[in-house]
Amino acid sequence: MTPISAPKAREVLATTHGEATSDGAGVRMTRLIGSRVQEPIDPFLMLDYFGSERAGDYIGGFPDHPHRGFETVTYMLAGRMRHWDNHGHSGVIEPGDVQWMKAGRGLIHSEMPEQDHGLMRGFQLWINLPAAEKMAPPAYQEFKAAEIPVETREGARVKIVAGKGATGVEGPVRAPHVDALYFDIELAPDGVFRQPLPEGHAAFFVVYEGSAVGPSEDGERTLDALSLATLGDGAEAALRGGPRGARALLLAARPLREPVAWSGPFVMNTRAELLQAYEDYQLGRF
Ligand code: FE2
Repeated sequence: MTPISAPKAREVLATTHGEATSDGAGVRMTRLIGSRVQEPIDPFLMLDYFGSERAGDYIGGFPDHPHRGFETVTYMLAGRMRHWDNHGHSGVIEPGDVQWMKAGRGLIHSEMPEQDHGLMRGFQLWINLPAAEKMAPPAYQEFKAAEIPVETREGARVKIVAGKGATGVEGPVRAPHVDALYFDIELAPDGVFRQPLPEGHAAFFVVYEGSAVGPSEDGERTLDALSLATLGDGAEAALRGGPRGARALLLAARPLREPVAWSGPFVMNTRAELLQAYEDYQLGRF
């Protein structure tokens, strides 16, 4: 088996399995980041995984709610989600599609299942915006599954949503504020994945199928689905598929290192800005 520990490889610092929770109108999910189990990993505020074949777990969806001050990234693995916002934007996110939404100064939207049975599965990630972008106009980057390039490597297939792969394949999403990297990796049994990362950027893997092995201080650590592995610093991320292979996300970005004032759907820098967000929302300024 190929050893994955290397002088440059980022070590797994900790693994967590998230917290079962519900949000919206009773959607059951696992909160991997942004709970009592795992605090935010600057600039990543929150990460939810939803996956159920029981309609009762998702049918309520996320009726009208506001956002201000950050970006939401929805990545569907199975099922269909219809979205709508109060600026006239709407559509359906289908399996393999990505919606990268910059809420900026604010919008009101809904995210509702476009199905009443069958599997609904995917991730929603919240990425913080720097102070200078929190009041920017809302903007969308939306890509169908077929528009997201796949980098084929020995032992791994990598869907590149954002960032640049080891062979130069580039994802369609532009995330300049934090230089975000968003990969969905399919690892063959014992297949090895390596990816250069800028030193100083925050990074983590989410293993969501099978199992994988990451380098750690004492050699190697096994990551079972569903788990989040926070990574230490270094010039590359490395992961090896377990005996049945694995599917995993790799996320990385430059930390903002700014004060965070967070209340519900608003993430600002100061308490005064949060109060302003509530006032603007109540006065219909979204
Ligand atoms: Fe939302």
